[in-house]
Amino acid sequence: MKFTSFEQYKQVYQHSIIHPEQFWDDVAKSFYWRKPWENTLNWNFTEPDIKWFQGAKLNITENCLDRHLAENGDRPAIIWEPNDPTEAHRVLTYKQLHDKVCQFSNVLKNNGAKKGDRICIYMPMVPELAIAVLACARIGAVHSVVFGGFSAQSIADRIKDAECNIVITADGGFRGTKDLPLKSVIDDALVQCPSVKKVIVLTRSRTAVSMIKGRDVWWEDEIKKVETQGSPECPAEEMDAEDMLFILYTSGSTGKPKGVVHTCGGYMVYTGYTFETAFQYQQGEVYFCTADIGWITGHSYIVYGPLSQGATALMFEGVPTWPDAGRLWEIVEKFKVNILYTAPTAIRSLMSFGTDIVKKYDLSSLTKLGSVGEPLNEEAWHWFDEQIGHGKCPIVDTWWQTETGGFMISPVANVTPLKPGYAGLPLPGVQPILVDENGKEIEGNGVSGNLCIKFPWPGMLRTTYGDHERCRQTYFSTYANLYFTGDGCLRDDDGYYRITGRVDDVLNVSGHRIGTAEVENAINMHSSVVESAVVGYPHDIKGQGVYAFVISPERHEDDDLTRKDILMTVTRIIGAIAKPDKIQFVSGLPKTRSGKIMRRILRKIAEGDTANLGDTSTLLDPGVVDEIKEGAL
Ligand code: WT7
Repeated sequence: MKFTSFEQYKQVYQHSIIHPEQFWDDVAKSFYWRKPWENTLNWNFTEPDIKWFQGAKLNITENCLDRHLAENGDRPAIIWEPNDPTEAHRVLTYKQLHDKVCQFSNVLKNNGAKKGDRICIYMPMVPELAIAVLACARIGAVHSVVFGGFSAQSIADRIKDAECNIVITADGGFRGTKDLPLKSVIDDALVQCPSVKKVIVLTRSRTAVSMIKGRDVWWEDEIKKVETQGSPECPAEEMDAEDMLFILYTSGSTGKPKGVVHTCGGYMVYTGYTFETAFQYQQGEVYFCTADIGWITGHSYIVYGPLSQGATALMFEGVPTWPDAGRLWEIVEKFKVNILYTAPTAIRSLMSFGTDIVKKYDLSSLTKLGSVGEPLNEEAWHWFDEQIGHGKCPIVDTWWQTETGGFMISPVANVTPLKPGYAGLPLPGVQPILVDENGKEIEGNGVSGNLCIKFPWPGMLRTTYGDHERCRQTYFSTYANLYFTGDGCLRDDDGYYRITGRVDDVLNVSGHRIGTAEVENAINMHSSVVESAVVGYPHDIKGQGVYAFVISPERHEDDDLTRKDILMTVTRIIGAIAKPDKIQFVSGLPKTRSGKIMRRILRKIAEGDTANLGDTSTLLDPGVVDEIKEGAL
């Protein structure tokens, strides 16, 4: 949706909350449906039971691919920049991407994939990852992408939870100086996963892998087979609007990650609409999103959102700091990128390398900037604005979640006013509300509270896979008739929203969501650990760091050796992304008489704010606090 003025945005916003169904009806009409819907929306937040565009038939890949072919088939859909800058980049036009998706869809069918099957994808950031995702959607299979940094155990947990029958992976992948042994990690995971009958392996890194007869096949061989079968076409499966499109696992405040479920129709409408609206995307602009497709950002804003709008999306295999900290700027110059969408942690990290390296590159093609994952602090905001945007690019600080499917609160580029540190105003169709502890609405401006959403939007999660009750409890039971985000939030005097961070036991480390309970469970697996408590603390680059308090009475004499062992355990159980930054050994944890750990106190100590620990009188043994304070790292 394009806007020419702030006034117009305000009018449309008002209309969207007074007549939401009419608003979404109009938005949805700009997509291609095989059959239109009978009801725009049926909902209740108690169950919850949410149905958008009921009765409609579609396939999201016809919107992302087929519908662009007649007029824009030769336009680049995906530009791919490899990890190693000396390797050639690739460009896939809409026509080429369409053909490759069809081919791989036929490969999936040849390997027994059917509508409704769950397929796990564990791949590096190569175009074939996007192709695999779209091929699943084309045949109506449900993809469950697992980020390449997760361990074999995490993959196994996700495969078992979703009962996947096929895995798509690669021999290995490159990220900076690292070689990721993806297939070997999958082999370790599959020892626990009898449901998996086929593993399709793309050649990427050419590292040695073991191929199990009858189970493992090479991507390239399978493509050759379908080539000899003739037609590269694969008709898209007709899906109901509310059929499942994908599962994406995310961490919560309990130990086990949950499978967030998105459905075909609503998710398509929402990602396409929000992509066009927030960035005010114009045909022909080159859009670069630095996220990995393993996270929701990559699903919604590398694959589905941009492609449904006929955009040109640049995907990058590597990391911003390799071969040096100029890599993103080099890519911007090389491809004349217009829109750069990245994360605060990347901005802060690149900031620390100084501006000389930035000045080596021509960034004049940039017209819009974006940020996601955590609050963009003011210092980083100004650096991004001045050094990268040269003061002429709006910064679209998009607040949203895996569960929301797409942007919720976000500036509209060149339309809504910007405030550093603020996500700003809700997009049309989104109804945020702040509530106090008791769920009472906090009205007016200049207030803070817990951020909830009071009306459905098409991109919202429908359930958590295999456990609807968990979905109800996590998001819909804290406050009656509201979706609870888990975030704290301030609404300033002008009604602009500033997200202040999670209010539950979830950490945001470099924009990745990590549950403290999950990390504790992993640490507790180590044989010398009796108990642990994990909290976050402010970290200059990562936003939040992971601080672990660990009881380990019979550890090695060398604490650092025990620390390394614990880090190894966390890497094995979850993945390197969850490794604690600090491990403090303690003899006890501050607990209430009922045995509950008082995390508030641990958080204060981790933050280095030991002078204001607040009331410790309800502790079972207030003495442990002094010991922990003294040993703080
Ligand atoms: C949590 C969601 C949404 C894609 C990336 C993370 C935090 C996200 C912002 C922002 C402040 C933000 C929130 C949210 N968050 N974007 N622009 N400003 N905080 O997805 O892993 O589902 O995490 O990330 O705390 O609840 P996610």
